[in-house]
Order: sequence, then C-alpha cells, then structure tokens
Amino acid sequence: MDRRAYSPPQPTGNRTVPDTVTEASAPRLRCINCGNISDRADQDFRCPNCGDLFEIFYPGWQTPHGLMAAGLDVETLKQLWRDRRSSRAPADISGVWRFRELLPALNADPITLGEGNTPLYDLPRSARAAGMQAVQAKHQGMNPTASFKDTGMTAAASFARQEGFRWVACASTGNTSASMAAYAARGGLRSLVLIPEGKISWGKLSQSLDYGAVTCQLRADFDGCVQVLNQLVRRKPVYLLNSVNPYRLEGQKTAAIELLEQLNWHPPDHIVVPGGNLGNSSALGKALLEMKDLGLIPRLPRLSVIQAEGANPFVRSIREHGGQTLTPIEAETMATAIRIGNPASWKKALRVVEATDGTVEQVSEVEIALAKAEIGSDGVGCEPASAVTLAGLKKLVKRGLVKPPETVVLILTGHVLKDPEFTLRFHRGDLFTGTAHEKDARVLEPNQRAPLVLDATVDAVADTLEEFDRKRGDE
Ligand code: F0G
Repeated sequence: MDRRAYSPPQPTGNRTVPDTVTEASAPRLRCINCGNISDRADQDFRCPNCGDLFEIFYPGWQTPHGLMAAGLDVETLKQLWRDRRSSRAPADISGVWRFRELLPALNADPITLGEGNTPLYDLPRSARAAGMQAVQAKHQGMNPTASFKDTGMTAAASFARQEGFRWVACASTGNTSASMAAYAARGGLRSLVLIPEGKISWGKLSQSLDYGAVTCQLRADFDGCVQVLNQLVRRKPVYLLNSVNPYRLEGQKTAAIELLEQLNWHPPDHIVVPGGNLGNSSALGKALLEMKDLGLIPRLPRLSVIQAEGANPFVRSIREHGGQTLTPIEAETMATAIRIGNPASWKKALRVVEATDGTVEQVSEVEIALAKAEIGSDGVGCEPASAVTLAGLKKLVKRGLVKPPETVVLILTGHVLKDPEFTLRFHRGDLFTGTAHEKDARVLEPNQRAPLVLDATVDAVADTLEEFDRKRGDE
C-alpha cells in the first residue's frame, strides 16, 4: 500500500497509530464448506476441492480483541476512523477505505468515488405504519451510483486492477452493473455487463451505458446470466465482479461498521435487509460478527432477511428444509433488483442469520408497493427492493419477533430514482392493472397521488390546494 496516499491524519495526543495491520493478520481465503484455506482463488472464486464459496478471514484476529495483537486496540481504532473524517486523502474520504484496518490491504491507491458515508435517517411515519416507536434507515442508495453496490465495488475493482486484469464482468439485475461500469471506468478497466432482457429498470440500464460498459441483454433471467458468466470466466481472462467475489463482500461489510459508528457503537436490536443473491446480508452479518469478536461492539444485533414472495428461495429453504438445502425457483417480482431464484450466497446468509438469532420473512407485491410509498412519505424514498425491509418489519412486529420499543435499522439498498417507472405507475394507479394483485391493490389508493393536469389558472391551482386540505384535514 502506498503509504503517502494512505497516511492517516496526525493522531492527537501522544498515541501512535500504525498505518496498516501487521503480517500476522494478513487475510486469507477459506472455503465456507470444507474449510480449505488458500491465498489465491481461480477466476470463478470457487473452492477447487468442493466448489463452494470462499470467504476472507484474518488469522491475526482469531483471539478476542485480536487486533491488539496486530498493534491496534479498539479505542485507538475508533479514534483513528473518526480522525480520518477530517482528512482530504481519497482513501480517507472513502467511507469504505476509512475502515481499511478491517479490510485486505491494497498495494496501490484504491479506485474510489467517495463511496460510503451514507446517512442514517429517522422514519417516523414508517415507524407508525409498522407499529414501532421509532425506526431508522441507513440509506445505501446515497452512494455515488445510487446503490449499496459501490461499497463492494471499490474493493473488488481495486483488486481486479491490482491483479492486472483488463476486463471485469458481472451478471446483474441492474445495480451491480451500474456500479461496476462506473468503477471500471474510473479505474481504466473494460467492463462487460450481462443483464436479463426487459427485466431491469431503464435507469440502471442507462447508467451502465453512460459509464461505457459493453452491455449485453441476454434472453434469460438473472440466474441464466450468471450461468453464462460462470462459463465465460473459465474461458476468457475476465475478472468476476459478482458477489461470489469475496473482496466485494469485504467492501460491503463496511456499511455495518459505519452504521455502528453512527450509533456511537451502541448496537440496535434489529437490522433488516432485503435478500436477493444474499451477498449483502452475508457481508453485513460478517461485519457484525467480526466487530463483536474484536470487541468493537458489546453484543450482536439480530439480522433479518426479507424476500419478495415471488422470489423467496431462501425463506423456503429455512421454513421447509431447516436451511439444509436450497431449491432454486423461477423468480417473479416487480422489485426487479431481487428477482433471483438461485441465490449464490445463501449458505453465508444462513450462517449470519443463525449466528445473530435473526429470522427471514417474505412480503407480497402489494405490501412492497405500500411500504415504498410509506418510506417516501418520510421524505426519504427508495427503490422497490429496498422497501421489502419495512414491509417485512411490519410482519416481524405482528409475529412478536420485534417489539415496539426496540431499536431497528432498515438497510435501504437503492435510490428512489433507480426505478421511477414503478413510482409513476403506483401513483397513477395502474401498477397492478391486469395482474392477480389488482383487487388487493385497492388498499394503496389512499397513498396514491397521481399528477394532476390543470388549466393554467390560479383558480384551478388554488381549488386543488383547498380540496386537498378538505380531504386530508389535520392528518
Ligand atoms: N436491493 C437492491 C436495490 C439490489 O440491487 C439488490 C441486488 C438487493 C437489494 C439484494 O442484495 O443480492 O446482495 O442479496 N442486486 C444485484 C444486482 C443482484 O445485480 O444489482 P443481495
């Protein structure tokens, strides 16, 4: 790592702070199934012994408070991360690399767009809708390309460049591709995107075009795109940037570290995450377990994963098979970001749900649409896949698994502008027209605000205002 680029701000007082962790904690790859340990992975990031996924682990942290062995105690670390907020070095401005003591080390500057540093919002209206006293949301849609993927992409794209690859590639439901295309462009890499034709939002598609990716719309669903890509990486020298790449999950885990920092290291009772390919829940859970092991937090929040009813293989795996197996399904949901039937990281996600004593839940299309409007009514907004968190929370409250006075953080994964067509159709009232959900969708009517076309007179506008007040009263 270039020490000039990475030099932290001068520590206050007479504490001395090492810049990077020592060799003792240098990260290694470990297979989540057979435990095979390796320092290198093949291009498909699968264990050569058993074909399962690798995760990154840090041998130097094996004891509680293990960072001390690497010369870093937790209070010094917390102070160091705070101090970096006032630095102008790109790696310090990044809300990912600011926490680099808990990441694999790069030997050059990272490819960064200043990712992370996302806000934590109170959602009072959403809390009321869920029967909670309070709810908070960490909005990962406030990243540079407007989804949580950027926190992983800064890490994995940087390692792709370090490894000398010219091409990076991903299969995507739209956000990974947007993010990969941006980071590849910033890093001078070529990028190849495989997306399901007609099944991703225009906003996301336009992003990967804007950032110059070679964008292929395959006549397949997301899972079909993954299959093609897995074969391609065995044939061509392209670096795989899907979330089976463990470096991506290391970047994504920093969202949980940043969240805990924002909460002054007081863990919330619950964290609620949408589940698609299940990389993000795995990454956030990994961070929670590591923070607990290292003594950064005193206890674990419960991590719960929510899926759409039509894209629920993980929920089914747990409910029907006790998490022993996962049967792939043909997924269907309007929350296209999570339209995934064969999630790659389900075993990792299962492990963190179990380790944190969390749970899983599924929500209907109408419940997703309603929750999205409710989050919007808090002035925050998100894309449909993110709204499964609030819809799921409502069900967890009803099941008694979340109690109204408890503290909850929803992870909002994508920005409201990622899928404006969904929002417009919701408010025009035709989102569910001609679908099996048409009758259920009547519950959405009070939340719909179709745009009004009026004569260009002050009377017409003033009458509209009065009518609105008459209908809504003091609400
Ligand atoms: N929310 C959004 C907005 C997403 O884009 C995704 C996944 C998820 C939630 C689920 O996260 O897959 O880690 O469980 N999008 C991927 C993509 C699959 O290609 O953009 P996950």
